[in-house]
Amino acid sequence: MILGAGRIARALVRQLLAREEYLRQRYTLTLPVAAVANSRYLAAGAPYLGVDELARIAGAGLESGKAAPPDRRARQIAYVTDLARSSPHRAIVVDLTASDGMAPVLLAALDAGFDVAVANKKPLSEDYDTFARLTAHPRGHIGYEATVGAGLPIIHALRALVDAGDELVDLTACLSGTLGYLCTEVEDGRPLSQVVPEARARGFTEPDPRDDLSGADVRRKALIVARTMNQHPELDDVPGMPMIPLEEGGVEEWLAGLGRHDVALAARVRSAREQGDVLRYVARILPGKCEVGLREVPRLSAVGRLRGTDNILTARTRFYGERPLVISGPGAGPDVTAAGVFGDLLRLAFIG
Ligand SMILES: NC(=O)c1ccc[n+]([C@@H]2O[C@H](COP(=O)([O-])OP(=O)(O)OC[C@H]3O[C@@H](n4cnc5c(N)ncnc54)[C@H](OP(=O)(O)O)[C@@H]3O)[C@@H](O)[C@H]2O)c1
Repeated sequence: MILGAGRIARALVRQLLAREEYLRQRYTLTLPVAAVANSRYLAAGAPYLGVDELARIAGAGLESGKAAPPDRRARQIAYVTDLARSSPHRAIVVDLTASDGMAPVLLAALDAGFDVAVANKKPLSEDYDTFARLTAHPRGHIGYEATVGAGLPIIHALRALVDAGDELVDLTACLSGTLGYLCTEVEDGRPLSQVVPEARARGFTEPDPRDDLSGADVRRKALIVARTMNQHPELDDVPGMPMIPLEEGGVEEWLAGLGRHDVALAARVRSAREQGDVLRYVARILPGKCEVGLREVPRLSAVGRLRGTDNILTARTRFYGERPLVISGPGAGPDVTAAGVFGDLLRLAFIG
């Protein structure tokens, strides 16, 4: 059952349709879709949605079907419970929404003996107890690879280390393509007041770029990485410094006044360069400590060499003590993100 019918969900449905025959031949596996829901509609098959309907959703999203009642989560929980009763197969509930408050739906799925896969960071960045219940449930498993670094194999690699008894020493990561892009443009001498409106026009930022510059999304990702490494922070324990001080008010008015930060930021870029450093918006995770913010990092380090929208994670652990584990590449985009979820679905199907 796929919750969400946006960019990632549609890419995932496309991949499921395109790889149907391959999965059957290679693994004797089928991954039929019982239902797709967005916040307005639920399309459910009897028992599965047909190829034509899935192709329609992959192309245009979900714009018709059974209208969702005002309490759509209660409806989704009821649907999941019904599915558990009626389905001869073990289902996987996939959260591809960007919605708050999905944890009860996912916990209901796990309680019903289903597995869960998510690209939505919000359920895993609620309180630690919810993270623990979702990730160590006695009846089902969760895959959450795409919550951090999109399709990059970060969570799976870190989980494998922790499962094998490895321990965190320190970890540095750039987990926002948008902030990475802004950092490298400013480093190349362009004023932030020019770069931000341009990035916004190209769809690289949220409609209100302050949502990116605040670092809120990076804080959530850092929290998920820290928890995956057996740390137990709450979101409030992760201090987040916005890339620049953020004034309130309407977005156009704020953009018009952005130039007031150009001089200070350019001076910081210059001073970093004189020390052989560059500025990067990084998440730093050490035992008992997790923070995000704009930092000077050595220009010749792996993080310093990162350019543009790519993500990177460098981890020193007991096993990777001499030289760090480095995972890097594009950390956003529908196809790679959906591929991260697809990988989770395969792993869940094999262990389920
Ligand atoms: N885009 C990326 O590159 C990327 C990378 C990594 C992770 N992610 C994560 O992947 C998730 C999906 O991203 P996206 O780009 O596909 O977002 P999107 O295009 O905005 O799609 C979100 C979908 O969720 C639906 N939705 C909202 N609340 C719902 C609810 N309670 N139940 C069922 N459906 C609900 C929306 O339906 P309506 O249209 O009815 O509102 C919409 O179909 C997000 O959590 C995002 O952070 C995205």
